[in-house]
Amino acid sequence: MAQDKRYAVISAKGAKRVRGGHPWVYRSDVVEESGEAGDSVVVRDVRGATLGTAFYNPKSEIRLRLVSRDSGWIDAEWFRRKVAGAVAHRRTLSIDGDAYRLVHAEGDGLPGLIADKYDRYVVLQIGTAAADGYLEAIVEALDEEVAPAGVLLRGDTAARGREGLSRENRVVSGEVPQEAVVREGGVKLRVDLWGGQKTGSFLDQRENHLLVGGLAHGRTLDVFSYAGGFGLHAARNPSVESVEFVDSSGAALETAKRNAGLNGLRNVTFTRASAFDLLRERSDAGDRYETIILDPPAFAKSRREVKKAGRAYREINLRAMKMLRPGGYLATCSCSFHLSREMFEAALGEAAADAGSTMRVVEWRSQAADHPRLLTVPETGYLKCAILQKA
Ligand SMILES: C[S@@+](CC[C@H](N)C(=O)[O-])C[C@H]1O[C@@H](n2cnc3c(N)ncnc32)[C@H](O)[C@@H]1O
Repeated sequence: MAQDKRYAVISAKGAKRVRGGHPWVYRSDVVEESGEAGDSVVVRDVRGATLGTAFYNPKSEIRLRLVSRDSGWIDAEWFRRKVAGAVAHRRTLSIDGDAYRLVHAEGDGLPGLIADKYDRYVVLQIGTAAADGYLEAIVEALDEEVAPAGVLLRGDTAARGREGLSRENRVVSGEVPQEAVVREGGVKLRVDLWGGQKTGSFLDQRENHLLVGGLAHGRTLDVFSYAGGFGLHAARNPSVESVEFVDSSGAALETAKRNAGLNGLRNVTFTRASAFDLLRERSDAGDRYETIILDPPAFAKSRREVKKAGRAYREINLRAMKMLRPGGYLATCSCSFHLSREMFEAALGEAAADAGSTMRVVEWRSQAADHPRLLTVPETGYLKCAILQKA
């Protein structure tokens, strides 16, 4: 199909959103369309004015994802330039570690493309048909920019299902072992590249891991610990007496245990439990801690779940606040995009009131800088992390 035949006309509502700086156009705002999954199409408003060029997929609820504000042509060279630009930005960030995000999808103007570097390896998640079609160019660009020993495509994501893409994990360049050992500040971490959550690790929390590790003292409880991101940093701090890692996943705790060994840490214990049950039992029993970390999975996966999620955040934070000793720190996070920072703050405020605790706001934090947030694309920022101190 000739390039000029690929186009989409979008409604006034869709055009307003796009002019406001948001790249997504939903199915319901597409008035006319021509193209195939993975094409880049020229987007116009109903009056015929060009709004830009977008990735197109007729199988997806998000039909169009704008990638430029002119009618430019998207090709392998365009992908190479964008990947190179994203990597160049990371070089300006003084990241203390060798595992970080090279490409943060829409945050880097590359819808659907996530590329995470773990020491000598890169793990990709590709959630748009257009980026999937340029996989070779993306891998070539990564080879040029960071020369990885291997690149793994993690196909096991829901986004690929929604775009009608294949779901297997496969090596697309070089060789990729099951596990890599990476450095985050002074901590070494084993990362399961093929089977770990997300692309293997929670890179978005790197800066928060470092900060909380420094603040921690006394008895420390790392709830929803996964492979130990927060607690390992805390356990290295001489002011910390002990760290208990809590997660419902046996595999996550097994990795946390191995990570503690890798870092020569002995002041650590591991508890497999539901965080809700454990927090309730411990607070009812009158347990006390100097540092508590709460980093749960997203409780609100959609707008509909926001209310229920608010109650869940309130419950776990109420329990944690009750158990903190005066002067103790609570690092509490939410990665639910649909629950705004204001809603999260309200849930924390209610928890503090119910617990009868006066909590100082030490700092509000977000995701690490290698996960860029765009002012006009709220979805690029999702992580909220409050550092609170009991008065
Ligand atoms: C966002 S991740 C934690 C990331 C980790 N804190 C880090 O910084 O690397 C959430 C973790 O919560 C665990 N989890 C989910 N539901 C849970 C529950 N009800 N009780 C305990 N852990 C749970 C998951 O297994 C996962 O490891």
